[in-house]
Amino acid sequence: MTKSKLVVLISGSGSNLQALLDACEAGTLPAKILLVVSNKASAYGLRRAESRRIPTAIFKRRKNVDRRDYDEELGRFIAALEPDWVILAGWMHLLSMNFLRYFPGRVVNLHPALPGQFPGTHAIERAFEAFRQGDIEQTGIMVHVVPDEGVDDGPVLATEIVPIEPDDTLEALEQRIHATEHRLLVETVRRLISGELHPG
Ligand code: GAR
Repeated sequence: MTKSKLVVLISGSGSNLQALLDACEAGTLPAKILLVVSNKASAYGLRRAESRRIPTAIFKRRKNVDRRDYDEELGRFIAALEPDWVILAGWMHLLSMNFLRYFPGRVVNLHPALPGQFPGTHAIERAFEAFRQGDIEQTGIMVHVVPDEGVDDGPVLATEIVPIEPDDTLEALEQRIHATEHRLLVETVRRLISGELHPG
């Protein structure tokens, strides 16, 4: 079976990238990661990729560069590799159509909250605070297609509820969410590759 070609975009620790790398290596995900791109030179995920000999690129937006021009350049650069899927695994830069138009229905984002809840940054902290205020009883995660510039919004591929326990610390909740993400992201990409799931 030919392997599906992935490009993974990260901005930080890359623990979800690690889950994808492990699944590729174990053969449970029939995919090859062509490239890992970070918009931050300090992202630890770059080290994770290097230690598996996966090519990496740092694509930092310079202050004087318009965000749409940056997106265009990044899109063209990645499109040249002809990936089947572009996975946003903790990528913290909102992509415009200048990027997305290169990969219609092929950009997949992971977000640590349920659809419509806590879009943007610090989603786990905000869910934890909402729980403490009595506004929510549980939280969750989602994987979705990125059709446009909506923030953490788009056709949902998978969700999973993550419970919050009354004596949870933020760290405990973060750990539970990340462990769930690692499993759900790999599983969702596997289902997309096999054609079991359709991106929209
Ligand atoms: C993950 O929790 C992911 O859902 C989140 O960033 C984290 C990256 O962790 N993404 C967003 O918040 C997107 N809005 P990682 O670098 O350890 O994979």
